[in-house]
Amino acid sequence: MSIFYQVRREYALSDLSENDLTESPFELFETWLQQVMQIDKISDPTAMIVATVDEHGQSYQRTVLMKALDDTGVTFYTNKNSRKGQHLAKNKRISAIFPWLAAERQVVFSGEVIELSEAENDEYFASRPFESQIAAVASAQSEVIDSRESLEQKYHALVEQYQGQAVPRPQHWGGYKIVAEQVEFWQGGEFRMHDRFLYQRTKSNWKVCRLQP
Ligand SMILES: Cc1cc2nc3c(=O)[nH]c(=O)nc-3n(C[C@H](O)[C@H](O)[C@H](O)COP(=O)(O)O)c2cc1C
Repeated sequence: MSIFYQVRREYALSDLSENDLTESPFELFETWLQQVMQIDKISDPTAMIVATVDEHGQSYQRTVLMKALDDTGVTFYTNKNSRKGQHLAKNKRISAIFPWLAAERQVVFSGEVIELSEAENDEYFASRPFESQIAAVASAQSEVIDSRESLEQKYHALVEQYQGQAVPRPQHWGGYKIVAEQVEFWQGGEFRMHDRFLYQRTKSNWKVCRLQP
């Protein structure tokens, strides 16, 4: 099969100029996030696609939900035995992209992960709905399972076991913070003359430069 796609459009919603830049990239990121949260067409504004690399240099990507932002980076939660968890145990380098296409924007973070503390993991796990806690216990994420039925059996057995009780957090379930070393902002522009700004962490602060589109 060989198909050519003629999907193209102009990007002209907005622009990003030197005047919009903040001292730290996290302030600008938070401003953009608040703006895209108002756009109905962006269904999961906190969803980001994170890329990790295996021991052969093969990259893998998947969507996760950002759950926190601070002055160093963005946090997500997962099963640390999953494929991504296994990659991160050997290689902490990671990148994450927020593809806010309906706003003609993307933001890319790159850096290294640090693992959240046991106390932080416990606190967040306890805040999740019962069903999500059960699912985290039931699923050996990224491992093969013979059928949907087997998975549901595990889930329902755990629902019965923990009915009316606190679900203990599995040791392998927790958060990673992506400590950003670079943050790049992209705003689509007319005639493909897009605006791109790259923040790079220095010893004491951030430096920022404009990149060609
Ligand atoms: C919208 C969306 C949100 C998701 N959020 C998470 C998440 O926060 N944590 C997580 O572990 N997986 C999440 N997933 C599932 C992951 O994309 C992925 O399938 C899973 O983490 C296993 O990835 P891995 O095998 O590469 O480790 C989400 C998927 C989608 C589409």
